[in-house]
Parts: sequence; C-alpha cells; structure tokens
Amino acid sequence: MRRLVEAPHPFCDNVTVPTRAQVVDALRAVVDPELRRDIVTLGMVRSIEIADDGRVSVVVALTTPGCPIRSHFERSVREVVAALDGVREVVVGFDVLTPEEKQRLQQQLGRPQGLPDGTLARVGNVICVASGKGGVGKSTLTANLAAALFAEGHRTAALDADVWGYSIPRMLGVHGRPRVSAERKIVPLVAHGGVRVISIEFFLSERDQAITWRGPMLHKALRQFLEDVDWGELDYLLIDLPPGTGDVSMTLAQLLPQAHFVIVTTPQPAAQSVAKRAAELARRYGLGIAGVIENMSAFVAPDGSRHAIFGSGGGEELADELEVPLLASVPLQPELRSCADEGQPLVLVDPDAPASQSIRQAARGLIAELPPRPILTAQPAESGITGTPLPMAH
Ligand SMILES: Nc1ncnc2c1ncn2[C@@H]1O[C@H](COP(=O)(O)OP(=O)(O)OP(=O)(O)O)[C@@H](O)[C@H]1O
Ligand SMILES: [Mg+2]
Repeated sequence: MRRLVEAPHPFCDNVTVPTRAQVVDALRAVVDPELRRDIVTLGMVRSIEIADDGRVSVVVALTTPGCPIRSHFERSVREVVAALDGVREVVVGFDVLTPEEKQRLQQQLGRPQGLPDGTLARVGNVICVASGKGGVGKSTLTANLAAALFAEGHRTAALDADVWGYSIPRMLGVHGRPRVSAERKIVPLVAHGGVRVISIEFFLSERDQAITWRGPMLHKALRQFLEDVDWGELDYLLIDLPPGTGDVSMTLAQLLPQAHFVIVTTPQPAAQSVAKRAAELARRYGLGIAGVIENMSAFVAPDGSRHAIFGSGGGEELADELEVPLLASVPLQPELRSCADEGQPLVLVDPDAPASQSIRQAARGLIAELPPRPILTAQPAESGITGTPLPMAH
C-alpha cells in the first residue's frame, strides 16, 4: 500500500498528488531486462515532474539512443506511475546517458572501465596522438616525437594502438617478440633510439597478419597493453591512435583519465572540422589537449621556393579555435617518409633537417606543456599483475 502525503489537491479537496519519493518508489518496479536491475538503482531516471493537477512526467535516460527496449520502459513506467493515487496523466520522455554516466553505470555493475590503481603509476605523462582523418602523419610524428623526447634525455615509450594499421615497429625499426618477465609482465622491445615499444605486430604469428577485432576483444587487448606491460619508469608514454574517433580512441580515453591529446592536422582549412572531432572526443572524456601539430606544411624545394601543397594556416586556425598551442608546423619532406620506411626516425638521422627541427620544436613544446613529473616509486598494485596471455596468443 503506497502512502500519500496529505496535501490538498488544488481543484478538488479530497485528491492528493503523489510525492516525488512515492514516484521514485513506484519506478523501482521498472526493471531493465538486460541489466536485470531497476531503473532507479541504475540511475536511469533523469527527471520527475509532478504537477498539481496530477500530471506526472518522467524522463528515462537510455544507454543508447536506439535502445530496443524503449517501448518496454515506456509501457512499464506508464503502468506503475498511473497506478499511484492522484495521478491523472503520465508522460514518458527519453534521453541518453552521457559517456560519464555510462562509465559510472559500468563501474556500478562491476565492469569498471578504468585500470587497476597503480598500473601506470610510474608513467609521468601519457600523450595520445590523434587525428580526425587518416594519413595525416600521426604515426610518423609519434615515432619521431618519441625519438626526439628520448634524445632530449627523457625516458620515453611508444604504444602502437592502431591495432588494424600498426606501423610503429616499421617506423622505429623494431621487430620481434617481447619476453615475459619473472613477474609475468610483457617487456617492451627497445628501438635503437632507446624508445620502448609495444605493438600488436610483436604478437602476431606472421607480419602483416590482419586483425579483425572489435568490441570486447579489442578492449581486452588495449587493457593488456597498459596493464600487463612492464613499462618501467617513463617520463612520456606516446600512444599512436588509429584515425578518427572510433572504438580504440574511445576505449583509451576511458581507460586513461590522465592522458593528454595532441591533435595532428594537415594545413588545409577544410581538414579542421574533421580534426576537431578528435579534440571533441578528448574533451568529452575530460582529457586535456596539449596542442596541435600541423603536418605536411609547405614543401621547400632545393631552390628555396615554397610549395604549400596542402594549403596553409589550418593548424594555426585549429589551435586558435581550441585555445591550445600550435606546437609546430612540420613541412613536407621526402626524407621524413623514406627514413620512416627504413625504420630510422629522421630526427635521429638528420636532426637539422627542416622537418626534424619542427618535430624537435614540437617535442620541446610538449616538455614545456607537460613537464616530466616526479614519478611515484610505488610498485604497481597486485591486481595489475595478471600475466594473462594477450588475446592473440589463442
Ligand atoms: N611531413 C611529411 N613529409 C613527407 N611525408 C610525410 C610527412 N608526414 C607523413 N609523411 C608520410 O605520409 C604517409 C602517411 O603518414 P602516417 O602513416 O604517419 O600517417 P597516419 O596519420 O599515421 O596514417 P593512418 O591514419 O593510416 O594511421 C607515410 O608514408 C609518411 O611517411
Ligand atoms: Mg598511423
């Protein structure tokens, strides 16, 4: 029997409207059939409005906009609220849980997105190199920035998170299979520049094997790259993302609340709106943006003439719009490509080449923006040592 407050109804002396607590109580009978908990416990009741004339409006936040059980919610909410004394009309509205709310929900359901405490305690700064569209030079810049940061005296690693289009091993000239430490952690390979590297390539039975993971497999592999790798003490962990704002970028943004993004764009103004999506992703997850790098800026021919093949000014405009620094404009330079193809970052082969100078400038900008932090000496938490084999070992 539901208890009603004894407030008089404005139009009719003997009718009372239910209280908010009573509506909430009634909504506890509406169960999400997939998650098998009621919508109040799940935090899916976005709002309740109770009008004096007995009209009750309830907004339910769904996990996805096209939620197939929407009509189930609509029917059930209507039914349980209408059953309360004093309710004359029930209006059911819908909206969608924000990513943060979804994350909280997953945590509540015992499916935490985050990493165990202490997993990256010995990593000072995590920097995700992102872009809106493909082929703008993320991997080339990640490889060269990592080498440049190392050359500046900082302990640096590169994580190749582009599981479908991995290219960091080729660009840093490091191939092989990592060994597993006594603590059952994967030991990164070390490129000749000194940069520690992990890539999916190291775990494949043949090079250039295609990876088709999505969803849980992908999530598991990315988690393991962070959790089960003995990164050691690092000043910078650079993460080469695949293009766009898909599964990988979203998963990592969720797993790494401390990460910063660097957005790579080409100089044509048209690239900006696409590049901005990568920035929006970072901001949606509350991550900082360390700056923009414009890549493939004007090519300077041996005769000194400049050729703005991909236009100009886009990097600056994007940086202004995002209110972050433009870390560098890296010119088109054929040697940057040929060295990357040969596994030798141009910044090490020819540190004075125009592209190298710009990349070194970007590295110094990053150091200024995200100074190496004193590293906590705490060992990773026990729970971090899982030693589970990576999924591709099966
Ligand atoms: N400034 C540059 N001058 C000349 N070539 C460049 C420059 N930047 C990148 N390249 C070349 O352009 C190609 C694409 O670069 P890269 O693979 O780094 O892009 P990406 O953004 O990582 O691509 P994807 O989105 O596919 O991961 C490579 O061959 C690379 O060597
Ligand atoms: Mg790439």
